[in-house]
Amino acid sequence: MKHLIDIKDLSVEEIDELIEVAKDIIKNPDKYSKKCEGKILATLFFEPSTRTRLSFESAMLRLGGNVLGFSEANSSSTAKGESVSDTIRVVGEYSDIIVMRHPKEGAPVVAAEKSIVPIINAGDGGHNHPTQTLTDLLTIKCEKGRFDNLTIGLCGDLKFGRTVHSLISAMVRYPKVKFILISPEELKIPSYIKKEVLDKNKIEYIETQNIEEYMNKLDILYMTRVQKERFFNEADYIRLKDSYILDEEKIINSKKDLCIMHPLPRVNEISVKIDNNPKACYFKQAKYGKFIRMALILKLLEEC
Ligand code: CP
Repeated sequence: MKHLIDIKDLSVEEIDELIEVAKDIIKNPDKYSKKCEGKILATLFFEPSTRTRLSFESAMLRLGGNVLGFSEANSSSTAKGESVSDTIRVVGEYSDIIVMRHPKEGAPVVAAEKSIVPIINAGDGGHNHPTQTLTDLLTIKCEKGRFDNLTIGLCGDLKFGRTVHSLISAMVRYPKVKFILISPEELKIPSYIKKEVLDKNKIEYIETQNIEEYMNKLDILYMTRVQKERFFNEADYIRLKDSYILDEEKIINSKKDLCIMHPLPRVNEISVKIDNNPKACYFKQAKYGKFIRMALILKLLEEC
């Protein structure tokens, strides 16, 4: 039985296979519409979500399966003090695969140790978000046509932004990928990622606070929200929340084929005026999320 806790649980070849299946689903949805008949997906969300939970539920329904679950910890017996381990042992008896989001880093590892069905990490604290990374990779493949030879700007909350941490871990496996890390001093990428991921893989990267400085070099600009829920002090959040607001003026010098991505939800960090710019890919990105999650469900249930 395989779980997906960290993007590194998947080899480059497995990611390529998932992307090919997702692309085939986009072209031939009817071929997959009964693949999961009789199967149940449980979504256990101890933290809020729109895209991840609903795209997983939509994915399973589009595959002919069924869904059950909860969307907040307070509507489950967690509110009475039940442990994650006990919840997982029980829900494994009611379902064939479990998708779980939890505020504590490492909670999905504990869940996987106890689970009798595959566990998918849908985000654990400020740590990892591997299915967002699969979504990002499908977006990059469809919009840029390649994973190699890309200069990727990551902008915003690089400290708490788990989507950024997972995306870096995935992209360092491809040749000639460079990162421009754009953040305020307080929200810089954690040193463990610099040491254990970037330096270890000899990846070229630059840290800057200026979003415009390297704009003309970027193939991808990945904007992120300042993660309010991870701050201990509201005053710090208020001071930092609008550090970057991407607007038409800031992308004037960008490449013609710049791809602007964002895992969403957006707060203020991208002006709505950019939404109709051909460089804006973030709503397409959210759409791709359903297809790659369909492919992932099929893989973990050994239906493809
Ligand atoms: N990108 C993402 O994880 O969105 P949600 O928090 O809405 O699931």
